[in-house]
Amino acid sequence: MSRPASRKRVVVLASGRGTNLQALIDAGNDPDFPAQVAAVIANRPGALALDRAREAGIAHRVVDHTKYRDRAGHEAEVVAAIDAAEPDIVCLAGYMRVLSADFVGRYRGRMINIHPSLLPLFPGLHTHERALAAGVKIHGASVHFVTESVDEGPIIAQAAVPVLPGDDAGTLGGRVLAAENRLYPLALALVARGAARIDGGSAAISMTAETGAQVLFSPANLR
Ligand code: GRF
Repeated sequence: MSRPASRKRVVVLASGRGTNLQALIDAGNDPDFPAQVAAVIANRPGALALDRAREAGIAHRVVDHTKYRDRAGHEAEVVAAIDAAEPDIVCLAGYMRVLSADFVGRYRGRMINIHPSLLPLFPGLHTHERALAAGVKIHGASVHFVTESVDEGPIIAQAAVPVLPGDDAGTLGGRVLAAENRLYPLALALVARGAARIDGGSAAISMTAETGAQVLFSPANLR
């Protein structure tokens, strides 16, 4: 495969441990990967994601939501920080803030999120507990474009994992997280290459054999 002419600049927003951020950083270390993390913004000063950015030599910044009087004030500063990095794509990776319609609209079609369930099942929090309570036998993760409805934007790619006898939220969540860390770079690559884009209400994916194999992991090919 020929080397991408221009690699897309990515800003990652995170709040916590940052394993998905790490997966995106690691993917970008391959010069053939079509995107590279240019900056990381966290809303919590203690976020491990910041240490990961620091270790990788990537620009990082805290915009601590507790220091702002209201959501609009905090978001304005986050927007300024994002735009200063001039990203092509914004990735949410465990960013635990509800986003305003204005914020979402500003980055429509170029902001993506990873969610720990097979959407549209289990939007919101505590997805592993809810999957276990519902008795589903397949669970997983989704990467989707961000729209105004939380966890409802057009789906780009999904990873499925089995729910095994004896699973608790910890074991199941660990299996899903391993899948997430593989899925997010693949989904980002699709967006960076223009192979996945918002087309009307849904995520249009231009399918090649290669793309088709990437948009879904199944239990069969996950250990
Ligand atoms: C992941 O489960 C992601 O799907 C959800 O928040 C978690 C973030 O994990 N949105 P990490 O910080 O990337 O390790």
